[in-house]
Amino acid sequence: MSGELTSVALDGTIFSTLKAEAPDALLALIGLHAADPRPTKIDVGVGVFRDATGATPVFAAVKEAELWLAQTQLSKSYLGPEGDVRFTELLAELALGRRTGGSRDLVGLQTPGGTGALRLGAELLARAAPGRSIWVGTPTWANHVPLLAGAGLAVRPHRFFDPEESDLDFAAMMIDLGAAKPGDILLLHGCCHNPTGVSFSLSEWQAIAALCAERGLLPFVDLAYHGLGQDIETDVAGVRLLVESVPAAIVAYSCDKNFGLYRDRVGAIWVKAPTSQVDAVRSNLYALARINWSMPPDHGAAVVRLILDTPELRADWEAELGAMAARIADLRERLAAANPRFAPLGRQQGMFAMLPLGPAAVTALRADHGIYMAGNGRINIAGLGEATVNRFVAACAPYLGTKPSPVQQPPDD
Ligand SMILES: Cc1ncc(COP(=O)(O)O)c(C=O)c1O
Repeated sequence: MSGELTSVALDGTIFSTLKAEAPDALLALIGLHAADPRPTKIDVGVGVFRDATGATPVFAAVKEAELWLAQTQLSKSYLGPEGDVRFTELLAELALGRRTGGSRDLVGLQTPGGTGALRLGAELLARAAPGRSIWVGTPTWANHVPLLAGAGLAVRPHRFFDPEESDLDFAAMMIDLGAAKPGDILLLHGCCHNPTGVSFSLSEWQAIAALCAERGLLPFVDLAYHGLGQDIETDVAGVRLLVESVPAAIVAYSCDKNFGLYRDRVGAIWVKAPTSQVDAVRSNLYALARINWSMPPDHGAAVVRLILDTPELRADWEAELGAMAARIADLRERLAAANPRFAPLGRQQGMFAMLPLGPAAVTALRADHGIYMAGNGRINIAGLGEATVNRFVAACAPYLGTKPSPVQQPPDD
């Protein structure tokens, strides 16, 4: 009796309703690349920075700060849902050129990575206005749509990228956003767009700011690659202009790329709101943080705080970040010069670009040349080196005429 009952009970658990998720395409790509014995293979798939040797090193300033922290930290007692307040304060100055302390219209909070900041912002918006429309340019980072929809917002796609030209189509974006209604939310990448690399000029940021102000749209900016485009100031000029132009905005920030702290999960969120609403925003952010992760992990944020608070460490960090941006810009120039179809890459920014390659071309490049890229043609430019750029371009050349499939989501990261 009990045997039969047990098997029925085992089969009939609550999990029997779950459908298995598709395996992570990017992890599969890492596995395929690792198993490829060809010494000439090229990995432009994974979305982390790589130096000229192919490594993703720990910043020297981070190592210094970690040593200092290990020697001086006296307690690991709880902080609170707001995390390291000084970290958020210093980062607000870096990103927004503003102070949160004493500011009457800005609330800041430390989060577990940029993902935590995005989720917290999305949940705050869904609490304030369940099911509200959020306009998201296609393609975008693979996690955006499930994260925003999962939090309870209604995702509305808009055009902004011409896949055949591998370039920004700002006119199409503005046409599509003409359908946005007052109170709708607009998700924007602050700089170094993932996966396309396209960036807005300052006058385009001005047009977006005017649209948001006139139509009452709330900008929700994802700033995950600050400093990896042109430089720390220029990369955020558009975001600052936008935030100053509207009464309410959200900025989600990641320190995981520009401080190389990926696995330490370092991020922050700032919400700009009218003074009369700031207390409600703050207490709701704290409550949401409390039910999601209670309080954010401290180590990486403490490291960033030390770096930003110590002039020598800050100078070292800025120099290293500048060298990373310069390496990416140099590779972009080489790609742009090597083939006219790559010309747009020279005016785009950050680690990523989406090449006009269909899935068949992506598969053929992997099979015939050991070139590993995401299925939608997104490449991580930092995966290339001086020695491999020309071979990469030559391998892609025969396929560049092939029409890319309609814009697709990248597999991950
Ligand atoms: C556009 C974008 N936003 C946010 C994130 C999340 O960053 P984090 O690793 O800090 O959660 C990423 C990470 O790849 C990203 O590409």
